[in-house]
Amino acid sequence: MERTLVLIKPDAMQRNLAGAIISRLEKLGLKLVALKMLHPDKALAQRHYAVHKDKPFYNDLVNYITSSPIAACVFEGKEAVETIRKAMGATDPAKAEKGTIRGDFGLSIEKNSVHGSDSPANAEVEIKLFFPPDELFGY
Ligand code: RTP
Ligand code: MG
Repeated sequence: MERTLVLIKPDAMQRNLAGAIISRLEKLGLKLVALKMLHPDKALAQRHYAVHKDKPFYNDLVNYITSSPIAACVFEGKEAVETIRKAMGATDPAKAEKGTIRGDFGLSIEKNSVHGSDSPANAEVEIKLFFPPDELFGY
């Protein structure tokens, strides 16, 4: 079964939106198989966003995701990656459709409320960064 990593970003945590976002994802029929709150350090953030290390926004991105505690979740289900990417909406909330998480809650391209893995292969790598195997539940 496909799995994907979701991070509730600092802007959503600060506005008490973690539950609302997780609830939307549960309603898609996906199963929550891991969940925790953490304050990521720079090393974890740099590894998580390593694919963007040559981009002009990389340092800001790492500083942002380490600026507050976040919630990390793993959802499992059929086409979990694509299903969650659709529910998140476009990266820039100004371009995201209403009814999507970023369209409804996002504040800016940086403060866009949520991260979702962009492929099943990247999801497996990202999940390992945030969760040891015994924190992933089958039920
Ligand atoms: P995410 O990884 O957070 O789920 O977002 P995404 O796939 O939709 O977008 P991605 O291209 O992976 O970019 C990661 C995060 O970097 C910030 N970003 N800023 N200033 C810019 O042009 C720019 N482009 C991307 C966004 O916060 C994005 O979520
Ligand atoms: Mg991405």
